Amino acid sequence: MRTPDDLAPRLALARTPTPLAPLPRLSAALGLELLVKRDDLTGSHLSGNKIRKLEYLLAEARAREATHVITCGGAQSNHCRATALASAPLGLGCTLVLRTPTGAAAELQPARGNLLLDRVAGAELRACTPEEYRAWPELLERAADELRAGGARPFLIPEGGSNATGALGYVRAAAELLAQAGGAPPSAVVVATGSGGTLAGLAIGLKALGARTRAVGIAVCDDAPRLRDAVLTIAAEAHERYGLPTLDERDFTLVEGYQGRGYGLCGPEELTLLRDVARRDGLVLDPVYTVKALRGVIEQAGGAALPGPRIVFVHTGGIFGLEAYADAIADV
Ligand SMILES: Cc1ncc(COP(=O)(O)O)c(C=O)c1O
Repeated sequence: MRTPDDLAPRLALARTPTPLAPLPRLSAALGLELLVKRDDLTGSHLSGNKIRKLEYLLAEARAREATHVITCGGAQSNHCRATALASAPLGLGCTLVLRTPTGAAAELQPARGNLLLDRVAGAELRACTPEEYRAWPELLERAADELRAGGARPFLIPEGGSNATGALGYVRAAAELLAQAGGAPPSAVVVATGSGGTLAGLAIGLKALGARTRAVGIAVCDDAPRLRDAVLTIAAEAHERYGLPTLDERDFTLVEGYQGRGYGLCGPEELTLLRDVARRDGLVLDPVYTVKALRGVIEQAGGAALPGPRIVFVHTGGIFGLEAYADAIADV
């Protein structure tokens, strides 16, 4: 198979390959082999899944001679933080459109967690309401028009970095994972799913390599049918643009039921799990994505949606989001 690096330029920004490590205690509790792909170790300030996507997205921005990148997300977006910190040393200006409860700029203060790092990176921050955010492509276009009027050449990165170019990062990660697994390919690889690019990349990569490993996404912020459409759209775009295999719904699984109280809301059961996993397994999960995904893994492992006997959980990072939940964590 041609590798993603044969298909598109990539900047080496992430610390890869990330370790594939056993989780002996959790494995014993579940009665099957659970490993963790430590994509929370792709860097320090750049850590998490987003930097794998940004390796290709920012390379494309450079190839197009962009002077500025624009992207969007929730106020505590890991993707926005990684974009701001990765683009600054490349000499790219960065504008982030961030969703806050009322769209007031004051809600971007006090800057904590990811927001603090957005500021350290020198990104321009714009707040919008959840209603306005629903039309995020228009918000990005509007910001781009303003920048163009000032002489800049903006490059737009979609929510979560989730398009065909960003997904190449996880096509590459799928090959990395299978190489590490050697003669014992996992029965399933499972990941928290928000905007779908990570799951799409994994599913495409596994299919391209002819692996029998099942790609499984745990939905953390949207319903499964919408996420399924998002994954299929990214895959269709990747097929068209890069000649990668198309996906149909049989090529991956989306599991619902683990959104908890909703996107960005973390209840006491999830915070208790976060605490227990840190103490028992030495992994620090994040409250928005990975703790919900691991909850799904614990309940579904070995079942039809998440087949054993050898499951890989991708830890997609998010540690900076933890600080925003300090009060709730103190309660558990
Ligand atoms: C820590 C973390 N895990 C998982 C995801 C989900 O990845 P994707 O948006 O590619 O579905 C994100 C981003 O949305 C994230 O920040």
